[in-house]
Amino acid sequence: MTAARVNETVTLRGRVHNVRGKGKSAFLILRQQTATCVFFVDDVDVSKGMVKWVSKLEAESVIDISGVVAVPSEGPVVSCTQKEVELVVHSVYCVSRSIDDASRPESDFDKEDGAQYVRVLQDTRLNYRVIDLRTPANQAIFRVQSAVCELFREALRRKDFVEIHTPKLIGGASEGGASVFKLDYMGQPACLAQSPQLYKQMAIEADMDRVFEIGPVFRAENSNTHRHLCEFTGLDMEMTIKEHYSEVLDVLNDLFLHMFDGLNERFKHELEVVNAQHPFEPLKYLNPTLRLTFPEGIKMLQDHGVEGVDPLGDLSTEQERVLGQLVKEKYDTDFYILHKYPLNARPFYTMPCPHDGDYTNSFDIFIRGEEIISGAQRIHDVELLSKRAVECGIEIETIQAYIDAFKYGALPHGGCGVGLERVVMLFLNLGNIRKTSMFPRDPRRLAP
Ligand code: 4AD
Repeated sequence: MTAARVNETVTLRGRVHNVRGKGKSAFLILRQQTATCVFFVDDVDVSKGMVKWVSKLEAESVIDISGVVAVPSEGPVVSCTQKEVELVVHSVYCVSRSIDDASRPESDFDKEDGAQYVRVLQDTRLNYRVIDLRTPANQAIFRVQSAVCELFREALRRKDFVEIHTPKLIGGASEGGASVFKLDYMGQPACLAQSPQLYKQMAIEADMDRVFEIGPVFRAENSNTHRHLCEFTGLDMEMTIKEHYSEVLDVLNDLFLHMFDGLNERFKHELEVVNAQHPFEPLKYLNPTLRLTFPEGIKMLQDHGVEGVDPLGDLSTEQERVLGQLVKEKYDTDFYILHKYPLNARPFYTMPCPHDGDYTNSFDIFIRGEEIISGAQRIHDVELLSKRAVECGIEIETIQAYIDAFKYGALPHGGCGVGLERVVMLFLNLGNIRKTSMFPRDPRRLAP
């Protein structure tokens, strides 16, 4: 509200964040998403009964406050304490009362000064997620999440990518058999898609040229960690390549710089709100993004004295973390690409290095030492693809339609999958993926 609106009658709708009655007056804090506004109510402008009634409003109730915008006066009135104007209130109307629910652990949701809920156990927060999501920090986190999707879309559309939607009910595993949610599909065995992998590749062979998808991904992994969910949102892209899989890395470089710049420039307020409750160091990133090969990464770990590193295996979570620290010390960046992974560490559809069969044309990308992306050039030769599937223990008949897609002239291509919740968790350095999933699904949680 500004001085231009003086004498206008306005109505504000919000939640009672807090109310404190003191005999003839009351302080009421109204909350709208991430903003709060303090009202001082006394019996000069409203009846004594109204002051008493306002004092007893339950926190979280939805109310309408109507009044006239006025220039600030000296004396205490019913006022909205803004810098330029105040609101002389005519009425307070309760739209919906918050019920005093005895089963809700009221004390756990105690508020401290200002606008935050604090000191609440994560499980309690998740059990009462709707209330938890009302906090300013959570409001900001999910605006950042929405922005990540928007910036992902924006950057790829500018490069002529087409948004697609692939089926989530599918006949076989796309990323390996162990971590699949199985189900009955009209009498046929089926599963929930572990990724859009096979279908986005089929879209490329249907001459879509450059595609992306934002959609749910299901993993039946019994991983109770800070970074695994059983359902998450995948940001996937796939594109034809002419010469080399570095073309995919070039697109990802532009995409992520666009995303990080966009968040820092267009979502400053949200970042500040999150920072107020969960302080974090801003993400450091280079332009162009640092690219290291897997053998270079291994050497950095070995030179640092890390034991048990397998040059032809995968990195453990701990080794990834240590490498992230070493990269930060040496190159001053929290965001980097590690490419040319060993064959043993990658899924069957990954293209082996043409000159070195122990390795693949593949990559992972890290934020603050944790993986957010995995991608690669894919095998488009139908013989090699079938051979690799069998070697990796896949039952060919469950993916026959996929294999067939490469029989009728196949385009070289590559792409990647990004975990949305991980990007937001690591950009904001929140430490737990459950904070960036609105209603998280982990091995122990199916509700709310
Ligand atoms: O590494 P993943 O499993 O790779 C794929 O799904 C491939 N089809 C991608 C490709 O195009 N080659 O998953 C990709 C990303 C990971 O880097 C991680 O960010 C996220 O998805 N992710 C998870 N996020 C939350 N919970 C889980 N259980 C995740 N598993 C993977």
